[in-house]
Amino acid sequence: MKNIDSYTHVRGESIYLDDIPVVQGTLYAAVFDSPIAHGRIKAIDLSVAGSIKGVERIFTSSDIPGENQIGGIVPDEELFATTHVHFCGMPIVMVVAESEEIARLAVSKIKVDIEPLPIITDPREAWEKGELIIPPRTFKLGDTTSAWEKCDHVFEGRTETNGQEHLYIETQGAYALPLENGTIRIYSSTQGPTAVQRTAARVLGIPMHRLEVDTTRLGGGFGGKEDQATTWGIMCALATWHLKRPVKYSLHRMEDMRMTGKRHPYSADFKIGLSKDLKILAYEVTFYQNAGAAADLSPAVMERTLFHCTSSYFIPHVLATAYSCRTHLPPNTAFRGFGGPQGMFVIEAAIAKTANALGVPASDIQQQNLLRTGDEFPYGQKAESEANECWNKAIELYDLSRLRKEIDEHNSVNKQYKKGLALMPICFGISFTKTMMNQARSLVHVYTDGSVGVSTGAVEMGQGVNTKMLQVAASIFSIDPALVRINSTNTYRIANTSPSAASATADLNGRATEIACQEILKRLKKVAAEEFSAGEDEIEIKDNWVFAKSEKTTWEWKRLVFETYFRRISLSELAHYTPPGIHYDLKKEKGHPFAYHVYGTAIITVTIDCLRGTYDFDSVKVVHDFGNSMNEVIDIGQCEGGIVQGIGWMTIEEIVYDKEGRLRSNALSTYKVPDIYSVPKEITIHFLDTKKPNLAIFGSKAVGEPPLLYGIGAYFALRNAIKAFNPTVDIAYDAPMTPEKVLMNLYSKSNR
Ligand code: MTE
Ligand code: HPA
Ligand code: MOS
Repeated sequence: MKNIDSYTHVRGESIYLDDIPVVQGTLYAAVFDSPIAHGRIKAIDLSVAGSIKGVERIFTSSDIPGENQIGGIVPDEELFATTHVHFCGMPIVMVVAESEEIARLAVSKIKVDIEPLPIITDPREAWEKGELIIPPRTFKLGDTTSAWEKCDHVFEGRTETNGQEHLYIETQGAYALPLENGTIRIYSSTQGPTAVQRTAARVLGIPMHRLEVDTTRLGGGFGGKEDQATTWGIMCALATWHLKRPVKYSLHRMEDMRMTGKRHPYSADFKIGLSKDLKILAYEVTFYQNAGAAADLSPAVMERTLFHCTSSYFIPHVLATAYSCRTHLPPNTAFRGFGGPQGMFVIEAAIAKTANALGVPASDIQQQNLLRTGDEFPYGQKAESEANECWNKAIELYDLSRLRKEIDEHNSVNKQYKKGLALMPICFGISFTKTMMNQARSLVHVYTDGSVGVSTGAVEMGQGVNTKMLQVAASIFSIDPALVRINSTNTYRIANTSPSAASATADLNGRATEIACQEILKRLKKVAAEEFSAGEDEIEIKDNWVFAKSEKTTWEWKRLVFETYFRRISLSELAHYTPPGIHYDLKKEKGHPFAYHVYGTAIITVTIDCLRGTYDFDSVKVVHDFGNSMNEVIDIGQCEGGIVQGIGWMTIEEIVYDKEGRLRSNALSTYKVPDIYSVPKEITIHFLDTKKPNLAIFGSKAVGEPPLLYGIGAYFALRNAIKAFNPTVDIAYDAPMTPEKVLMNLYSKSNR
């Protein structure tokens, strides 16, 4: 089934925040954000700004009726700075005016006198100064200290991965409308309507039931709107609360890039030990996460880094420690993979370093250590592994030895163009790492004409979750999909939702929808059973028709629905779902946090131009574990998008903050994302053939984040291509590998 949004997307008819018709009297907000990364506010001069015609009101922290606090996990983040600023881009003042232009003009006239204070942008420096967001955490399996002496090879190293701008096509924004009795409706471009509702209630000092948050769809979120959409929703609601007028704020691209956090940069140290036959026996790793100026989701992201620190490998002795370091950058936040990619990069670097030193292909080491079913992760869960299945299928299907031979032949006869290849096996845990968040609800109404309305906590952000929800309802009822509509995500219909994140949206909300539909179906079947003198289990609905004892009856779906209503039986159901069997003990750092894992293997090939340092990815060939995909078209789309986004992170996307904590890559002219010319020439995705039972919706495994991890292989393919030209170069494990860095490494004389 095609994505139900494709029709309106292609015609430009889909409704994003900025497409909602504004009502009369709407005002527009704009923010004055700190030009200084760390300092003490000495004075704020609003006189010129306030005198501009059309400025309705100017807000500062003193206008907040409740708490000036938006921190989700740790209460350490002000909505508007009071005495101090902690990052460039931190909101200080909000202007509300009759038009966007006037609001932004007024912002440009605001003067804030800030006394500068020392600035930290580097996580290791923050760590040395004891600037930690939360206490460190350590995952431990076996005993590394005694394992080193059993190792034949031990290597140590250091890695860096940079941040990543989400670059959702639709920037952040919100639109608040005053309703009666102090109630406010907030249209928000958010992955977490409840997060907006909960935090706005705190800031306004009103109960959550007075805030209705509504989200139709996002033009992309990628994690950037899991927590950081709340800011703009609250700002609009705050102005609406004071002025009793509708207030809208839709950020310009540069405001968005400057004020919002990104993927966390990480610095890490590793030590890896192997036996003669390339079994990894011991692995120690220390992560320094650059959290930015406030916690935001950093503690949860840090946790997932630890969960994925051994990637898809089994290592018997592991010691992994992570520090969440407070710097003066905008608070970094969720980004597809949620810390997992950062953890997985380090083990791949450790393997690459070992491979180079021993003169073996990295894939020999990778393959030797792939997880097998029953192997224990450092956090105690036992793997139900598809790692070897994916790997073996990939090297057979794509003929790895032939690929290698072609590349060697190419490299032996070409001076200017060199090719490189890398394999990237992945393993990603599905479930929110915070067990409590793994719950969802679905409200299903069957209307008397046979049409169906479904509301869940799922937010459509391009990942196709609405199509999947629709498929669930249509297939449980066995009716024409055109009869089903998925409603906007709304906190008045579905309460206390977890954000649409962790790739688990379809699983959690889909399962709840499945339960709700089954419940209604049971009631319908009972009515049919009475009518046709059959047992309830002898009633079946097939393609809009009622069958009794395998015979087609005179009742169509519509008739059955109406007859049920006529008998005063409910045609609505609210269902709740939470995955069974997951738990985690924070004190022991052991448990069973994930409902299941997703596996896969990619083979990536690249060609570099050794004169220019530029490169093209020739192919990404994947065998991916989709479980039993319920929508192959959407799932392939998620894979392709994730792969390209992952390659972007590892290659051309380069976030640059200067020493003053100012974002230099602050526009699309200075921050490059993959475009149609830089995507791999070939992306082939093969569905691993397994029909094993799992906890996913209809057995269709979560697909949102895992494919991004294949992009890590792009970095190592590039490395191998550089080494084909300059075999003795000692390439730092420092991503992204931009064309500039490729060029430097091609001609670097530094020998190991
Ligand atoms: N795909 C599109 N088109 N747009 C997005 O914003 N977000 C990604 C992924 N795929 C995203 C996307 C992220 S970060 C997550 S967690 C999942 O989708 C969320 O949706 P799911 O739980 O339904 O997979
Ligand atoms: N993944 C994504 N988002 C989250 C998670 C997670 O594990 N935990 C809290 N928010
Ligand atoms: Mo995705 S980073 O969990 O929104």
